[in-house]
Amino acid sequence: MRVQKAPREDHELPDSMTSAFLQCIEQGCERRYPLDAKEHLCSACGALLDVRYDFSQIDAKSLSKLWQQRKISSAITDQSGVWRFRELLPFVPAGTEVISLSEGRTPLIEVNRTGEWAGVQLSIKHQGNNPTGSFKDLGMTACITQAAILGSRVTACASTGNTSASMAAYAARAGMKAVVFVPFGKISTAKLAQALEFGAVVIEMGDNFDQAFRMLRELTDELGLYLVNSLNPFRLEGQKTIVCEILEQRDWRVPDYLVLPGGNLGNVSSVGKGLQELRQLGLIDKLPRLVVVQAEGASPFYNMIAAGADEIVPIQPRTEASAIRIGNPVNWKKALRALRLTDGLCESVTDEQIFEAKAALAKDGVGCEPASAASVAGIQKLVQSGKIEDGADVVAVLTGHQLKDPEISIKRRSERELAQQRLHVEPDIDKLRAALESVMLQSA
Ligand code: F0G
Repeated sequence: MRVQKAPREDHELPDSMTSAFLQCIEQGCERRYPLDAKEHLCSACGALLDVRYDFSQIDAKSLSKLWQQRKISSAITDQSGVWRFRELLPFVPAGTEVISLSEGRTPLIEVNRTGEWAGVQLSIKHQGNNPTGSFKDLGMTACITQAAILGSRVTACASTGNTSASMAAYAARAGMKAVVFVPFGKISTAKLAQALEFGAVVIEMGDNFDQAFRMLRELTDELGLYLVNSLNPFRLEGQKTIVCEILEQRDWRVPDYLVLPGGNLGNVSSVGKGLQELRQLGLIDKLPRLVVVQAEGASPFYNMIAAGADEIVPIQPRTEASAIRIGNPVNWKKALRALRLTDGLCESVTDEQIFEAKAALAKDGVGCEPASAASVAGIQKLVQSGKIEDGADVVAVLTGHQLKDPEISIKRRSERELAQQRLHVEPDIDKLRAALESVMLQSA
C-alpha cells in the first residue's frame, strides 16, 4: 500500500505528534516495542500489547475547546468522530493521510420507555449509525491507517460479521486486499453481503468464530497478512474515542454506568483505556462503572468472574445474538483491567432477555441488532438484582444497526403479532377497506 507523503489537504493531520510506543500489558514484563513491530503480542511473554503515549506535552485544558471548534470544519479529519480527538491517538506521523469514512459522530438518545422498562434513566449511544453500521468502523479507521503506514497490502480478520464488513470497506478505501474468515453459515446475510460488495475474499470455515480466528492466526505471520482483529492494539485506539463523544454530548457529566455487550471483549477494553486516559489528562475526575454483558450461552468471561477464577475457560458458544457468539475472548485480560479500574460489573443474559430488550427499544423507535440489545437486557437484570440502583444515570452502547440482522426481526415476532401486523390483502377495494377497519379497531 502506498502511503501518500503529500496528502490531500483535507485528510492531513496537521498537529504535531507526541511520542508513542507499544507496551506489554503484563505487570512485571511491560516490555516496550516500536510502533512498527510486526507482532501484536509481546514476544517475551505472549501477553497483549497497548499503544502508549507520552502525553506530557499536551495542554489538556484547551483540548475540549479545540475538539468542539473542529465540529464546524469540513476537513474529514475534523468530521470524523475518531480523528477529531486525534490528540489521543498520536501514533500517526504528522502529514500522513488517514483512511477515514467520516466514522463516529453517532447520536446519544434518551430512551424513556426503555429506561422505565429497565428501571434506570437511560440514554443509548447508537454505534449502528456508522458508515458500515457498527462500532467496528471507529477501530478500523485507526488500524487500517496503521496498516497503510506499515505498507501492508493484504488485511485479514476472523469475524462474526461486523468486523469483516468494516474491514472490507476500509481496506477498499485504502486500496488493500481484504481476506475474511467467517464461521460457515453462521453470520447474517446482510453482513456477508457487505463484505462481498466491498470486494473482500470471504473464506467460510468451521462452526464458530474461535476456530476461524485460531486458524487465521497460525497463518498471518507466515503469509505476511495484516491482522485487524481486536488483538491489534491500534483497533482499540480508534474505538476508545467513543468515550470522548459520549462525555462531550453530556457536557462532560460522567454517567453512573456505561454498559456494553461483550464478545471478544475488545470494545470494553478500549473504553476502559479511553476513560483512564481522559482522567489522566484531567478532562474528567471520576469514572463511570463499566458494565459488560454477555449472552448466557457465550459467557466465558462472566463465568470466570462469577467463579472468582483468574483464568478464562473457553466454551462452545451458543446464542442467537450471532455477533457475540464467541467462546474464547482474546481480550479478557484487558477487559478485566477495565472492570477493575472502574469498579465494573459483568452480567450474562438469555436470548429471551435479549429479545425482550430489543422489543423495549423498538417502542422508543430505536432498532439494533440482537447483540446490541444485550447491554439493555443486562441493565434490567442488574437493577432487578439490586446491583444497579433504581433510577441510576446509565448510558448503554448499541453496537450495531437494526438492518444487520433483518431475518431475526421477523423470525422473532410471534404468530399473534404477525397476524396483526403483516396482512396479505387482495387488491380489491372492499377487502382493503375491511382490513383497514380492523386495523383501526386495534388502535382504538
Ligand atoms: N456487538 C456487535 C454488534 C458486535 O459485532 C460485536 C463483535 C460485539 C458487540 C462485541 O464486541 O468483541 O469487542 O466484545 N463482533 C466481532 C465481529 C467479534 O467479528 O464482528 P467485542
